[in-house]
Amino acid sequence: MSPTHRGPSSERLAVGVLASGRGSNLQALLDACAAPDFPARVVVVISDREHAPALERARAAGVEAVWVSPKDFVSRESFDLALVHELEKRQVGLVCHAGFMRILSAAYVQAFAGRALNIHPSLLPAFPGLHAQRQALEHGVSVSGTTVHFLEEGVDTGPIVLQAAVPVLPGDTEETLAARILVEEHRLYPAAVRLFAENRLEIVGRRVLIKDSSKEGR
Ligand code: GRF
Repeated sequence: MSPTHRGPSSERLAVGVLASGRGSNLQALLDACAAPDFPARVVVVISDREHAPALERARAAGVEAVWVSPKDFVSRESFDLALVHELEKRQVGLVCHAGFMRILSAAYVQAFAGRALNIHPSLLPAFPGLHAQRQALEHGVSVSGTTVHFLEEGVDTGPIVLQAAVPVLPGDTEETLAARILVEEHRLYPAAVRLFAENRLEIVGRRVLIKDSSKEGR
């Protein structure tokens, strides 16, 4: 069967999403998954924050929402292993980090090596870490954007899957730049998940090769 012609929802790639806050990227993924021909479905959303709007978005979409409290664990590693357990229990084939504000330990990263994506609001490797939009403004760049990349142990490192650029305009504030980037994030993350679900991504060293990339217009 061609990967672009999957059958019932049970054959679609099971995705777990980790989110700490607003969850607009989660929403973009949920919206994409609502299309019958999208090759993935979100099966669980996990947050480290009990009242994260992302959990509400999951419930509204009929997706299981799970709060894992870091306070219940003695160490970062044991919290991370609880996340692995929750995700493995639901047999996810891919984990999408969407504004999950925690640095994950080696055990977590290894458990999902080549099966976890992150989205970051800059053109990596420029401006990793917090306040990427502020960093871009402080450096006076004229172009910034967003990156979807595979998760690695470093902060916002890992082989790059897709990027999209936006202009930085005179008078931009962190908020106006973030809003411009976010429009691209919401387009880019579902596109990356589709590529993964269609088995079209191959990690070669630091790079990601996209099989049959003519379809992407790249
Ligand atoms: C996004 O800008 C994403 O790139 C970054 O955190 C933000 C999350 O926004 N990792 P949201 O919660 O998806 O609305």
